[in-house]
Amino acid sequence: MIVVIGADHGGYSLKDDLFSLIDNLNHKVLDIGAHVNDPLDDYPDYAKAVAETVASGQAQRGIMLCGSGVGAAITANKVKSIRASVCHDTYSAHQGVEHDDMNVLCIGSRVIGIELAREIIISFLGAKFIPEEKYIRRLNKIKNLEDQ
Ligand code: RB5
Repeated sequence: MIVVIGADHGGYSLKDDLFSLIDNLNHKVLDIGAHVNDPLDDYPDYAKAVAETVASGQAQRGIMLCGSGVGAAITANKVKSIRASVCHDTYSAHQGVEHDDMNVLCIGSRVIGIELAREIIISFLGAKFIPEEKYIRRLNKIKNLEDQ
């Protein structure tokens, strides 16, 4: 699948390694920046770009790195059809896709290290939404909220 990755200065240190991991998993990776480690850059700019790339269908999944993952998730969820969350464990990373159709994963580079981040991304990208009636019903409730 096509995966878009982004990071502000808080997440910058993990981005290149994670880009290589995703590439090695045989996904096509789009890197929307940051392309330099600028301590004055702002996570909403990159989280918006990741979210809009997924929402427009140019990528099927997004990964956004910031210091905690929190600002990235708050921002990405403002974009219609984006279901983003911070996941710092592998269970949430795959269950969030299977039950909640999560399409943007947010990671805090100041919270976890590269090896756990790698395993979380492998879980996220390996997971598929389970199209059971109860999961579809719950997603439709979220979509109805989004449309209000
Ligand atoms: C940047 O210093 C930091 O505030 C940002 O990366 C992120 O942690 C926000 O949630």
